[in-house]
Amino acid sequence: MSIVHLNGAYLPAEEARIPVTDRGFLFADGVYEVTPAYRGRFFLFERHLARLQRGLCELRIDFDTRDLPAMHGELLRRNDLEGAEASIVYLQVTRGAAPRTHAFPKEPVAPTVYAFAKEYRRPSEERWERGFTAVTVPDRRWPRADIKSISLLPNVLAQQAAVDAGVDDALLVKDGIALEGAHNNFFAVFGETIATHPTTNVTLHGITREYVIGLARELGIPVEERPVMVEELGRATEAFYTGTTTEVRPTVRIDGKPVGDGRVGPVTRRIWEASVERVTAWGRGEG
Ligand SMILES: Cc1ncc(COP(=O)(O)O)c(C=O)c1O
Repeated sequence: MSIVHLNGAYLPAEEARIPVTDRGFLFADGVYEVTPAYRGRFFLFERHLARLQRGLCELRIDFDTRDLPAMHGELLRRNDLEGAEASIVYLQVTRGAAPRTHAFPKEPVAPTVYAFAKEYRRPSEERWERGFTAVTVPDRRWPRADIKSISLLPNVLAQQAAVDAGVDDALLVKDGIALEGAHNNFFAVFGETIATHPTTNVTLHGITREYVIGLARELGIPVEERPVMVEELGRATEAFYTGTTTEVRPTVRIDGKPVGDGRVGPVTRRIWEASVERVTAWGRGEG
């Protein structure tokens, strides 16, 4: 049975309740964060916390994040996930419960804090080697996609468009630019060079994206942070997505057309292998 965290208490998921006046429920007024752990060790935790703090600050939600590391550890412990090869903790903070008015509650209310942990299972090697597929979808999000807001309706619709098209990922497009996925960042590879959208207000600043860029630089792979046009994708040699629950995922077809030769390419594979090695070592207590 899954044990979740709600406002300081640990309880079975079935017993967790929030008031119907919660502003997360009524307005999607909140932020979330997803942090990975390898064999119980949280990876890049400070960066996840920093992004959460920035989002809270942007939305003017007053919440002290000091107890979060202990709470994350406790959730893994209570769910018997400390030994799991990979797991994640999902955390959501909303502005709290108050009578429904668009503007912030006049009297300060306590934010609602909800979190759960679950195992993350990597696709099998055979599945990964087959590669994944994507479809382009118009980006209909607000121009603050850099905030990890729980208001995810356009992302939900984009991912459903991918499911309806029988593919794995959505590729959100605005003004001819291939921005990112519905829940992951997008990279195109041109020969030896990897390219991805810069960190502006129109994409989420993925922690995995940042980590992969660092890893690529360590491997001597040139990185360009620039808008990638959809019309350029015809000459891309490879493409991949990154994310906490995506890790590094090769894309071999976009809109039914092969990317490069339509097979997983060497640049993506090098980054993937280096990444698995890095997080496995992290899980062993190294680094
Ligand atoms: C829209 C979007 N882009 C990118 C990402 C990847 O971010 P991260 O690597 O921090 O998981 C996410 C993760 O949820 C996302 O929702």
